[in-house]
Amino acid sequence: MSVPFNETAREFRALQPELETAVLGVLRGGHYVHGVEHAAFERELADFLGVPHVVGVGNGTDALEIALRAVGTTAGSEVVTAGNAGGYGAAAARAIGADVVVADVDPCTLLLDPASAGAACTDRTSAVIVTHLYGRAADVAAVRAALPPSVAIVEDCAQAIGARTAAGRCGSLGDVGTFSFYPTKNLGALGDGGAISCRTTDLADTVRSLRQYGWSERYLIGRGGGRNSRLDELQAAGLRAKLPHIEAWNARRREIVGAYAAAAEDTSFSFPGPGPGDVAHLAVGRHPRRNELAGRLAELGIATAVHFPVADHRQPGLEARTGPTGAAEAERSCAEVLSLPCFAQLTDTEVEQVCDAIRRVA
Ligand SMILES: Cc1ncc(COP(=O)(O)O)c(C=O)c1O
Repeated sequence: MSVPFNETAREFRALQPELETAVLGVLRGGHYVHGVEHAAFERELADFLGVPHVVGVGNGTDALEIALRAVGTTAGSEVVTAGNAGGYGAAAARAIGADVVVADVDPCTLLLDPASAGAACTDRTSAVIVTHLYGRAADVAAVRAALPPSVAIVEDCAQAIGARTAAGRCGSLGDVGTFSFYPTKNLGALGDGGAISCRTTDLADTVRSLRQYGWSERYLIGRGGGRNSRLDELQAAGLRAKLPHIEAWNARRREIVGAYAAAAEDTSFSFPGPGPGDVAHLAVGRHPRRNELAGRLAELGIATAVHFPVADHRQPGLEARTGPTGAAEAERSCAEVLSLPCFAQLTDTEVEQVCDAIRRVA
């Protein structure tokens, strides 16, 4: 028996009646963009996150670009991001014409190192992106304390919906938070989707305008840098059907990562269990011979993936530079990280098969 890395059809089967009702309701209603489902989803997600405003957008990368613009990023600004964050924030910054400065990460958590982020800031820095990578809740307050007061914090919560620190849920901790609902995310849409959480009405108004052409009112473009990036009604209805299940699904993911961590004890696979506020989007460990381990797991039927193989400052298309501390830890991790199957509908038998494989070959 082989264990898939992910299988979104299982999530559909688990919620088939609710999802079919939700989708058919939209089809029959005949209102497909910015209708009641979208408005209700924005409200329900804001309540879940504990923020005053959520704004739906087309996907997580648009969310990052719009959020960066909303906090004042323009062509010629600098945006600081962790070197191992997959290039999403960096791509969004480059789309605005901003320069990307890569900071290093903590070697244990693989999350942005506050001191490195602080050192990377200059008088051109508009924002630092804090990515809650793998579903691990980063210490946003520590990053805040290391930055000049004029620099905004954009939390990239694409992998971390529901994660929390003592100060609140991810997405409520910085100036603005961004979410992706790509189908394999902890809260996945039936296609692409994204959202932006905002702590102030001003910021929410700016984001609402930027996601729809820069309109200040219908057909009046009051603001530059606008575009069309909307979360449609079908996506919003599907997401509303799934949102009530997110806590249970996150708990199951945490359980799976905990089981893998226990199996990896006494092996060369350094595999941390979930921290108290983490939501275990990906089950990621580090191994000195990562590719060899992936090959041996494949022979045992275990699918794996690498998040992410190339550091941002090594991506030819990003033209990013590192800050004064460099990004050696981020770069090292790119050669060692390996992700194991992790989704809420994995069966106990499959989880045990992965654990057994870890014990045998890691
Ligand atoms: C950390 C992170 N940020 C941003 C994104 C971009 O989201 P999307 O694919 O919806 O544009 C992803 C998607 O994989 C992600 O993992």
